[in-house]
Amino acid sequence: MSQFTELFPAEFVWGAATASYQIEGASNEDGRGESVWDRFCATPGKVRNGDSGAVACDFYHRYHDDITLMRELGLDAFRFSIAWPRVLPEGKGRVNAAGLDFYDKLVDELLGNGIAPYVTLFHWDTPQVLEDAGGWPARETIDAFAEYVEAVSARLGDRVAHWITHNEPWVVSWVGHGWGHHAPGRQSDADALATAHHLLLSHGRAVEILRRNSPGAQVGITLNLDNPYAATESPEDIAAARWVDGLHNRWFLDPLFRGSYPDDMLEAWAEIMPEVRDGDLELISTPIDFLGINNYTSPLVAADDNGGRSRIVRRADVDRTDMGWEVVPEGLQDLLLRLHRDYQPEAIYVTENGAAYPDVRGHDGSVNDPERQAYLESYLAGAARAVAQGVPLRGYFAWSLLDNFEWAWGYWKRFGLTYIDFATLERVPKGSFYWYRDFIAKQRLRAAGEAAA
Ligand code: FCB
Repeated sequence: MSQFTELFPAEFVWGAATASYQIEGASNEDGRGESVWDRFCATPGKVRNGDSGAVACDFYHRYHDDITLMRELGLDAFRFSIAWPRVLPEGKGRVNAAGLDFYDKLVDELLGNGIAPYVTLFHWDTPQVLEDAGGWPARETIDAFAEYVEAVSARLGDRVAHWITHNEPWVVSWVGHGWGHHAPGRQSDADALATAHHLLLSHGRAVEILRRNSPGAQVGITLNLDNPYAATESPEDIAAARWVDGLHNRWFLDPLFRGSYPDDMLEAWAEIMPEVRDGDLELISTPIDFLGINNYTSPLVAADDNGGRSRIVRRADVDRTDMGWEVVPEGLQDLLLRLHRDYQPEAIYVTENGAAYPDVRGHDGSVNDPERQAYLESYLAGAARAVAQGVPLRGYFAWSLLDNFEWAWGYWKRFGLTYIDFATLERVPKGSFYWYRDFIAKQRLRAAGEAAA
């Protein structure tokens, strides 16, 4: 076994992450309304094998057992998201108290077990009625989101100390609205950009509401970010990598931290930009307490000879996960350093990092996943090196606590530290689960030793 020499600070937060639609199931219980993902899954050909989140890990009924798993891991924090259609089945207006009751009990049980809830307000399950009324490309959806945030924070704001407004607005915008691989399945670049602007605006509104209803809480947003590398030093490849950086990263980071959209991208998208009103960018750039980043890989980018803006180059010399994603741990390190240098967030959390592998149970029932362990270890080492260079990284959340519904891939892709037998819903901690448990324990012990010395 490799020797992990890097050391995280004593107050570093160790966590694991999940999202409502991916784990909860109980999609028709206690007054939950339909979400765009229920509809997308029910549309033939959209999700592999016709899978859906109707049952998923049945976390809605089994969260008690899963908190036991979290305790066994020794987690400081658990990141989960709230399902908007449980709270406001019609998207706005009537609040469904039973939906909030579930999260109320969950938060109390986490706190009772010494685990801090890190709550994501939007992890992609838009109420279907809102989509039918225009969805995120329509500016009115921001008001509905504000109602939802009011309802949630009025109920939980006294106990939740860490809020994440949105998860990966880039994915919602482009994968959901531009390319249609995710719900709601739209295919329009203009819808993607309108969605991005409205998600960012709704983030700004949410920050104001959370400051009022959850005084003293830390508020942030989670972006999926990567560190694009130019394939060569040629000006063409460098320009191509900069384009990918603009598309994935700067389009969200600049408005949030600088109050402006990047000029080069604005120029490229001039024809399809949504309306940006006076005051919009001030609202979007309302100061936040932390930036959450989800990072899995970092692309190698070259100029596209076929007239496109960029081309992703397949690396010959790296491992790949079951998603086909390249294992590039230095990408996380470089990304953290770059964020600290260019945007200076007050604090950063890695809110997701992990890997899918085609796990199977052995003859003795156990699940051996050394690749996942190696992946996590290498990314954590990259993160630790960034911390040593002054990056204010405050915590790390492994994706994911459980195997779960991996969106358009259905149950085919397994990201969990815990294996789920989806036929019986049995939970089986994988080798990486025990490794992460021991890793956290050792880090704590070493950090305490340093503090005492
Ligand atoms: C991220 C999502 C998360 C999960 C991982 C693998 O894009 O935020 O829900 O699906 O990828």
